[in-house]
Amino acid sequence: MIPAAGGGTRMRAERPKQYLQVRSRALIEYSLAPFFHAGWIDGVVVVLAPGDEDFIRLPVARHWKLHTTSGGVTRSESVLAGLKRVAELTQGFMGDRGVYALVHDAARPCLTRQDLERLKDEASDEQGGLLAVPVADTLKRGNDDHVIHTVDRRNLWRAQTPQMFRVDLLRLALESCRQRGIEITDEAAAMEAAGYKPLLVPGRESNFKVTYPEDLALAEFWLSRQELER
Ligand code: CTP
Ligand code: MG
Repeated sequence: MIPAAGGGTRMRAERPKQYLQVRSRALIEYSLAPFFHAGWIDGVVVVLAPGDEDFIRLPVARHWKLHTTSGGVTRSESVLAGLKRVAELTQGFMGDRGVYALVHDAARPCLTRQDLERLKDEASDEQGGLLAVPVADTLKRGNDDHVIHTVDRRNLWRAQTPQMFRVDLLRLALESCRQRGIEITDEAAAMEAAGYKPLLVPGRESNFKVTYPEDLALAEFWLSRQELER
């Protein structure tokens, strides 16, 4: 499932960042590609902002695996809406316990097929898992622009997407965060709050999230390179 209902405020572009083009394709088309390609993925739900008119114009909108629904004001509301759609689509299919969802940002266009495959191979259990990269920089905790102390970076990771969880468990976890007023920035945080220990699956730097205008050039670099490697 791809939550794509955000407005891309930090990108300051004329349209949401997932619709900006790099090498003649919208970012979201690249983000979707590995999920369309994987034979073990039965369907892809894209969560759109109410009134979105850009998505339907893309050729991928007619892919046979594709379903859409509309999202909410926050990312976690959009993900909940997407999970609801997944649950409707899979009703009576394998029973709830066998259905997993992979949640992936519309603005992460450089996910490789190999990393998606590895996440599936390693995280298909109750705990679920996510792609992540170890922190390389030295970390400082600051206060008023001054260093208070250096944070030990061993065991610190930067969380990416996709994040893979059982649909029923992730729904419960997200609903519970909503009810308890716990603010979360990724799905793993909701699962953690519910007592699970999602698996950290080492990914790569190229799977970064396009956020600021200068990130477009970096996306173009990785996408050209991946095209050459294919
Ligand atoms: N997202 C969503 N619904 C929201 C907010 C975000 O589906 N209400 C999606 C975005 O479309 C994106 C992903 O969540 O695919 C990651 O969010 P982010 O990078 O923060 O994107 P935006 O919210 O669009 O950007 P910004 O925060 O700069 O406004
Ligand atoms: Mg945002």
